[in-house]
Amino acid sequence: MSLAVRHLKLVAFRSYARLDLDVNAPMIALTGPNGAGKTNILEAVSLLAPGRGLRRASPADFARKQQGIGWALSALLDTQTDPVMLWTGAGEDGRRSAKQDGKAAPVLSLGRVARLLWLTPALDRVFVEGPGERRRFLDRMTLSLLPDHAETATRYDRAMRERNRLLKDGHDDPRWLSALETQMGEYGVALAGGRAHALDALLSAQADEGVFPRAEAGIVGEFDPAMTPEAFARLLHDARHRDAQAGRALTGPHRNDLAVRYASKDTPAAECSTGEQKALLVSLILANARALHGETGVAPILLLDEIAAHFDAERRVALFSEIAALGAQAWMTGTEPGLFEAMEGTAQRLVVREGETGSAVEG
Ligand SMILES: Nc1ncnc2c1ncn2[C@@H]1O[C@H](COP(=O)(O)OP(=O)(O)OP(=O)(O)O)[C@@H](O)[C@H]1O
Ligand SMILES: [Mg+2]
Repeated sequence: MSLAVRHLKLVAFRSYARLDLDVNAPMIALTGPNGAGKTNILEAVSLLAPGRGLRRASPADFARKQQGIGWALSALLDTQTDPVMLWTGAGEDGRRSAKQDGKAAPVLSLGRVARLLWLTPALDRVFVEGPGERRRFLDRMTLSLLPDHAETATRYDRAMRERNRLLKDGHDDPRWLSALETQMGEYGVALAGGRAHALDALLSAQADEGVFPRAEAGIVGEFDPAMTPEAFARLLHDARHRDAQAGRALTGPHRNDLAVRYASKDTPAAECSTGEQKALLVSLILANARALHGETGVAPILLLDEIAAHFDAERRVALFSEIAALGAQAWMTGTEPGLFEAMEGTAQRLVVREGETGSAVEG
């Protein structure tokens, strides 16, 4: 079974004044000129999960500039059980709020319904940029497998920021610091454990080497994920002076990194060609989707922005058939309809255009 958007509705979202879209195929190919509004649709779907969406934008950016009213989007989703209606939009405080089946729900709880994975052009540089991008990539994959991961990460960050602030201000309140270090211990170890579990699950769900390569991957860094929460809290306690001088916590899972290698070439991902790096990303995302299907019985929704452009015809065919085998709903974009020719009857082809009253989609 696969999770699937059946209907998507946008109101004053990015370039869309309004969109009502019925979805009736497992693969959705969105084509159209640059700036038409293709990625905006994938971004809208990405907001069915917690977080800032696939552009990592702030909620204020979502509101359609020409309208100056609050943005909103909703989707009817086929799930393992009953269909679910998710809504998200600007709340009264300007932050984003959410509803499930008409009832207010915490944004973080969206992750329990909408399991999503995405690849965007911005991720093309994930192996050559700093560790922050790779941690985020790993955290997204972890969140898809463990919906509580977002909350664990948020709580860890909150405790860490508060401790940084106390140390910076020179507040010498040992009990408050200890309480924060206990929280960092608890959430930090859970965070690291979640990532390790997710990575194990997805690496063992990798397919045999084919058009897409097998990846070797591990979590690296000073922080030992086998540490107990108490041991990590003690370590933080003993590092107060050092962390105060640095202005931040120098050890913890927030400093770990994801190391990826192209297995059959025995080469670090960062040294691979652009196309090879993209193929490794696809391998990881497909393995993640398979792991998720294995653990929950449900394939996630895939958002693959400009995916087809990077691959030759053979890789495109292989990608479409992998997705078809998974049974996952996949939203893909490209400027040229020809990129999606190999999908034949399995796809819903949509053309996106910039109209006078905002972007429009033609079936
Ligand atoms: N808040 C907003 N209000 C109105 N328009 C917006 C807003 N945010 C983005 N846009 C517009 O949306 C358009 C970009 O849409 P999008 O990124 O979906 O294009 P695209 O079809 O994916 O193009 P490309 O092929 O270049 O990737 C731009 O014209 C941009 O100005
Ligand atoms: Mg785009």
